[in-house]
Amino acid sequence: MFRSARRFRKCQFVQLMTTCVILALVMIYWEQLDNHVVSHMKSYSYRYLMNSYNFLNDSLSISREDASSLPNYQYLINHKDKCEKQNVLLVLFVKTSPENLERRQAIRSTWGNEKYIRSELKANVKVVFALGVHKHPLEREVFQRHLEREDWKYGDLIQQDFTDAFHNLTLKLILQFKWAHMYCRHAKFVMSADDDIFIHVPNLVKYLQDLDQRGVRDLWIGRVHRGAPPVRIKESKYYVPHEMYQWSSYPDYTAGAAYVVSGDVADKIYRASMTLNTTLYIDDVFMGICANKAGVIPQYHKYFSGEGKAPYHPCIYNKMMTSHGHLEDIHYLWREVTNPKLKTLSSGILGKLYCTAVKAFLLCKPYYVDTYPCSAVFS
Ligand SMILES: *[C@@H]1O[C@H](CO)[C@@H](O)[C@H](O)[C@H]1NC(C)=O
Ligand SMILES: *[C@@H]1O[C@H](CO)[C@@H](O)[C@H](O)[C@H]1NC(C)=O
Ligand SMILES: *[C@@H]1O[C@H](CO)[C@@H](O)[C@H](O)[C@H]1NC(C)=O
Repeated sequence: MFRSARRFRKCQFVQLMTTCVILALVMIYWEQLDNHVVSHMKSYSYRYLMNSYNFLNDSLSISREDASSLPNYQYLINHKDKCEKQNVLLVLFVKTSPENLERRQAIRSTWGNEKYIRSELKANVKVVFALGVHKHPLEREVFQRHLEREDWKYGDLIQQDFTDAFHNLTLKLILQFKWAHMYCRHAKFVMSADDDIFIHVPNLVKYLQDLDQRGVRDLWIGRVHRGAPPVRIKESKYYVPHEMYQWSSYPDYTAGAAYVVSGDVADKIYRASMTLNTTLYIDDVFMGICANKAGVIPQYHKYFSGEGKAPYHPCIYNKMMTSHGHLEDIHYLWREVTNPKLKTLSSGILGKLYCTAVKAFLLCKPYYVDTYPCSAVFS
């Protein structure tokens, strides 16, 4: 009797302590959680205003004089005649940095292989690597010599003399759109992608050929961020001070990891970029501001990934366009997606049913995983 009372008190004590610890944790994290939820709700309600009115144009446009006095970065490596006198379906810019040779090599020998695309997919795609100069002045010269040798061998680098750094990504964006405007204006589509992305080029080419046949214009497609709030936490890589961007929501934009625009949109973006304040260094947001000014609206494609990585499965490869964060597995993935045996897996009614079930299992998790959305199961 005495013993069981003591055990009862001990139980109560443990319960009380646990409750206290949980409460303390909630109190500590509540502020962060709250900030996050509130800022997203606030920004989402702002979104309509941001997308529909001219605030952005009015606050971020610069005068003609200011625009003409902006620095004009010189090309250190260029290929002006890459697109000359030929039909180009797609010019595909890969955003890279001087030190990422290994990534470029992996891309050249897998999804970025122009020869393969021409002979197997019957499409003219230009894969171009866009970069600046190495960020450490002391190492710059050595890297520059390596880059020149690399370019002599492959002829696919375009480089301007700005410092290749995260906070200069907007300069790299302008490099791409300017280059497309100057040297490849007749390309049907323009794409921009990170150098750690996997692109299912056979699917993409088929999709773009189909759009081209239908004469699609005004296209901007990718993983759309809707009503995203600017990050105001100083420690974050994406921190944007109030002076740089005063509104509580960005206009809709596609994740910079990979997106495609039609030729007419590329031209509009280029023109808009020449009239805007380029200090906002988050390149995909800047792209959104250019598009907002040009009246272009992004469209969501369920098989373009943002930060997320696609699950490995043939039923996913069937539909995949892009997937993010691939380094070591890029050769493996390329062998898998180009394996002709895989196609037969999802053919026929049984194959389709099987793939629907597999995709539902892989994409519709009860907790959040950053990959394709659950709704992609039925598309
Ligand atoms: C954007 O703003 C500039 C100057 O503030 C103005 O000249 C231009 O007409 C505006 N463009 C649009 C599309 O509203
Ligand atoms: C961006 O490039 C310019 C030109 O090289 C340089 O002056 C500037 O410091 C760079 N910005 C960053 C954040 O590295
Ligand atoms: C661009 O915006 C920055 C603030 O982010 C400001 O300091 C600068 O003066 C602006 N530049 C022009 C040309 O308006």
